[in-house]
Amino acid sequence: MLLKDKCCIITGAAGGIGLQIATTFAQEGAKVALLDIQEDKIKAEAAKLGGLPYVCDLCSVESIEKVFAAVLNDLNRIDVLVNCAGLANRTLIEDITEAEWDLVCDVNLKGLFFASREAYRAMLKQGGGKIVNISSIRGYMSDGRHVIYDSTKAAVHAMTRTFAVAGGPKGIIANSISFAYVLTPMTRHNLQRKGWLESIVANIPIGRLMEMEEVSNAALYLASDLSSGVNGHDLIVDGGWRASE
Ligand SMILES: NC(=O)c1ccc[n+]([C@@H]2O[C@H](COP(=O)([O-])OP(=O)(O)OC[C@H]3O[C@@H](n4cnc5c(N)ncnc54)[C@H](O)[C@@H]3O)[C@@H](O)[C@H]2O)c1
Repeated sequence: MLLKDKCCIITGAAGGIGLQIATTFAQEGAKVALLDIQEDKIKAEAAKLGGLPYVCDLCSVESIEKVFAAVLNDLNRIDVLVNCAGLANRTLIEDITEAEWDLVCDVNLKGLFFASREAYRAMLKQGGGKIVNISSIRGYMSDGRHVIYDSTKAAVHAMTRTFAVAGGPKGIIANSISFAYVLTPMTRHNLQRKGWLESIVANIPIGRLMEMEEVSNAALYLASDLSSGVNGHDLIVDGGWRASE
């Protein structure tokens, strides 16, 4: 087992990719702490996995501080933090409001930073740990429709590098994963748009969307000792999309 007895926090774990990562980590022997704003779902899913549920609003630094204190009280340490919670937006640039800007930035960037800061403080005390940030190929490429999302995901790449450089000498390792489309509650609605799937798949050399397990296996690699020596890296899981013309 690659994560035997490792204490791992996964944000955005009530569904989608965060839940898949929590499931994979639990199967690999980790003690999993599942964080999400959706109280009923996080409690139900944590119970199924034998993990611990924490209700947390990543828009609130106070909520993050309280929840990380509770996790440390319950588990004593944080070996791995996976920052997976995220919000997407497709509003046209000309229609973006301050409220939408603030919400997407708060969850995708501010919340990710303060969750990482709490983990970093714990990791400093215990002498090391790993942070895995879930970004997106939208941090590199644009279809012109995700301006806030794209900006936050690119910022996650930069933030990952800063944590990697500052934390490396202290045994704190930070990497990110940028992947292309996986069907989750965030993306499944796109299937109703005529021609969407065909137009996306046409860009992907392997000719399909990514599978959930392909993302959680990448997170497992970066969370485990298999990736020792890898620090400040962005692991692209996109079937070759970014490499193609
Ligand atoms: N699905 C894709 O195709 C895709 C592609 C690239 C990157 N990503 C990234 O993967 C991550 C997970 O995406 P997903 O598709 O599983 O999305 P999802 O919508 O299924 O899950 C996101 C989770 O974040 C939680 N969340 C939202 N706001 C929160 C808040 N304020 N506090 C705490 N939790 C909150 C939601 O409740 C939800 O459980 C995101 O960071 C997303 O940007 C997804």
